[in-house]
Amino acid sequence: MVVGYCVGEISLSELTFISDKMPQVGEYVTVEYDGKKVLGMVESLVRGNDSLNIDLHDVDAIQTIARMGGKDYYIKGKVKLLGDVDDNLRLPRTPALPGTPIKLADKEILDKVFKVKNPLRLGTLVNQEDIVVNVEANPILNRHLAILAMTGAGKSNTVAVLIDQLIGYNVPVFVFDMHGEYKDATFPNGDVNVIQPKINPIYMSFYEIKRLVNIPNNAFVQERHFRQAFNHVKNEIEAGTESKHNFLDAMQNYLEIKSQEEGSDKQIVDVVNKIEDAKEKYNNLFDNNKGNILTSIKIGHVNVLDLSQTDESVAEVLVSHIMRNSLQRRKNAVHGHAKNTLDHPVFYIIEEAHILAPNKRDSTSKHWIQRVAREGRKFGLGLCLVSQSPKTVDHDALSQMNNMIILRLVEPEDQRHVQSASESLSKDLINQLPSLNVGEAIVLGLMSKVPTLVKIDEFKGRRTGGDLDIIGDLAKLNESEKSEIKRQEQESLDLGYDY
Ligand SMILES: Nc1ncnc2c1ncn2[C@@H]1O[C@H](COP(=O)(O)OP(=O)(O)OP(=O)(O)O)[C@@H](O)[C@H]1O
Ligand SMILES: [Mg+2]
Repeated sequence: MVVGYCVGEISLSELTFISDKMPQVGEYVTVEYDGKKVLGMVESLVRGNDSLNIDLHDVDAIQTIARMGGKDYYIKGKVKLLGDVDDNLRLPRTPALPGTPIKLADKEILDKVFKVKNPLRLGTLVNQEDIVVNVEANPILNRHLAILAMTGAGKSNTVAVLIDQLIGYNVPVFVFDMHGEYKDATFPNGDVNVIQPKINPIYMSFYEIKRLVNIPNNAFVQERHFRQAFNHVKNEIEAGTESKHNFLDAMQNYLEIKSQEEGSDKQIVDVVNKIEDAKEKYNNLFDNNKGNILTSIKIGHVNVLDLSQTDESVAEVLVSHIMRNSLQRRKNAVHGHAKNTLDHPVFYIIEEAHILAPNKRDSTSKHWIQRVAREGRKFGLGLCLVSQSPKTVDHDALSQMNNMIILRLVEPEDQRHVQSASESLSKDLINQLPSLNVGEAIVLGLMSKVPTLVKIDEFKGRRTGGDLDIIGDLAKLNESEKSEIKRQEQESLDLGYDY
């Protein structure tokens, strides 16, 4: 079906068309010229009327013209050209001629575009429910993914849809579950493996322990004492001469002896007090008998680290700890070391990425998220950053996400930040973001041959964290209270009491 004709100056990547029909933004079209068939996507549309142009200021005249010829409007649209259908979607070398007709793309062409080797089904085209949208799994696993949208737009649903298919491919998925949304979820394709947030301090870095013990960055003297104690205990453990204490006790012990020798140095006493506080506060976090936390990961499972009961500083330390150890252990594995290796790839999902990789603030977790974002590809470590506040997610990390699923996003500052992190997100597509419905997304990047407007499937398993039916729940509560009162009254009557 012809939807319009090319007009004006036509470039290799874009064309303008005029039509008397109304195609839809996001719809795919083809333009045939010079023996080629070029696929494109309608990116923007306007409607105008030559007799009712912007210079007309007389309301009476406007009304008269509108009555006489109000239907003489035209539709002007912009198409982003995506490439030659028969040449692997490479962009053509010559532009189309003005006057060339533009047709809606055939189903066969679109089915071919969304046919990939290792498909992950995301959903269907927003404008054409009969076209299934598959994306390729590999580029997501090694070139990362960002899922961005305002709250309630369908990020976690998208995450669940993806997780289920990834475990179907036996991928070990690891979720940092900030709100306890995934630990009780059920996935049709595999099981959840809940990992307790516990670390053996011997696997922690100086900076991780320092963050928990709360030694401020500008407290140089305290940091020096703390570092001496840390190095001392690490060395003793490695030499096998420290076994009677746990890590923090051993540090405390070392500093107490030192303080006595140096006549109760105030700075040392301060550090000792902070260690005591940390031991009490993070009693549940430290586990001196535990192996490295990465050994708990199971292949083909949704490994869920439950962070719903921990505070932000602990979440930060755990993320940093796991990212750092994964990178080091994957490097060891790739370089053929015998010990301290992680012998399989992992796909990490970080919800609330704006907290764990904030844009304006430094944090230990951000540092290691950036490292995995940059280097993970070579070692089979993939990242999925999920956030409802894209503008506060670290720009560096975001620009390493070579795949994006962007659902409804209204805030201009968020839109600008996302656009500056992704070269393939055009201004016209950005303009579509506020008008998306729940579950509708713009999908971009290496995982897809073309940018796509997708209606994401609804997750088939069970998860918590969706919208609550508050009115319905309260009504049920009320009902059950009423029936309980009735039951009690009946029981009293049966027993012979009368009110
Ligand atoms: N593709 C979809 N199809 C049908 N319903 C959907 C879809 N996506 C989301 N929903 C519904 O919308 C609600 C919110 O979705 P979801 O929890 O995924 O949002 P979110 O973006 O993760 O929100 P938050 O920022 O609060 O975490 C849920 O109740 C979910 O069932
Ligand atoms: Mg969510």
